[in-house]
Amino acid sequence: TIRAALFDLDGVVCFTDHYHYLAWKEMADAQGWDFNETINHQLRGIPREASLEVILNHNGVTLDPQKKQELAHLKNERYKELLQQIDSDALYPGIVEFITALRERGVKIALGSSSKNAGAILDKLSLTVLFDAVVTGNDIEKPKPDPEIFLKGAELLGIHPFNCVVFEDAESGVEAGLQGGMKVVGVGTPATLPNAPTVVRDYQKDIDLDTLLQIGKPAR
Ligand code: G6P
Ligand code: MG
Repeated sequence: TIRAALFDLDGVVCFTDHYHYLAWKEMADAQGWDFNETINHQLRGIPREASLEVILNHNGVTLDPQKKQELAHLKNERYKELLQQIDSDALYPGIVEFITALRERGVKIALGSSSKNAGAILDKLSLTVLFDAVVTGNDIEKPKPDPEIFLKGAELLGIHPFNCVVFEDAESGVEAGLQGGMKVVGVGTPATLPNAPTVVRDYQKDIDLDTLLQIGKPAR
């Protein structure tokens, strides 16, 4: 039985993944680097500095550590500027209703986001009250695909990983959930998340709560 649900933030709870994309795209255009949705998909779930590294590698560009730090900082400043305009329109459709339905079934809810901006986004979108535990990029040592972030969430909730389900739009995040021994639901398509055991696009239409929570299945 599933007793806890752990959610990634960007691209799962809200469309802030688009603002990450825009901030990187602006930088790439200014620097004359190639950047597109395919490269962007690889950045999902991975920290800022590692994201820059992926973009640099893709373009065959080498920079000294100080310059890299500067650019990662610049990207974040631009990202935060873009975040100022977000409101409830940035919420993934049906997400609040879905989390509320889970809560009504007694399922504990945690956030597991690599973003150091996650807390501010939850506040801005008035979502903090929906989460029993919040684990962000500020609280972990090993980034996704390491399972640390989700294991920490499960521990804070007091639920065994076996009884947890992870919602993720990142390949690194799907891997982290699976490595943690959790059930994983990809948010996206089978093409973008080939490692996800199941994928959904719509939290209402594509999910049957009883099936998800594995209720009514004979015990083994
Ligand atoms: C999330 C996003 C990534 C982002 C990472 C770090 O995992 O999916 O695209 O790079 O958070 O975010 P931050 O807001 O700390 O730069
Ligand atoms: Mg994500």
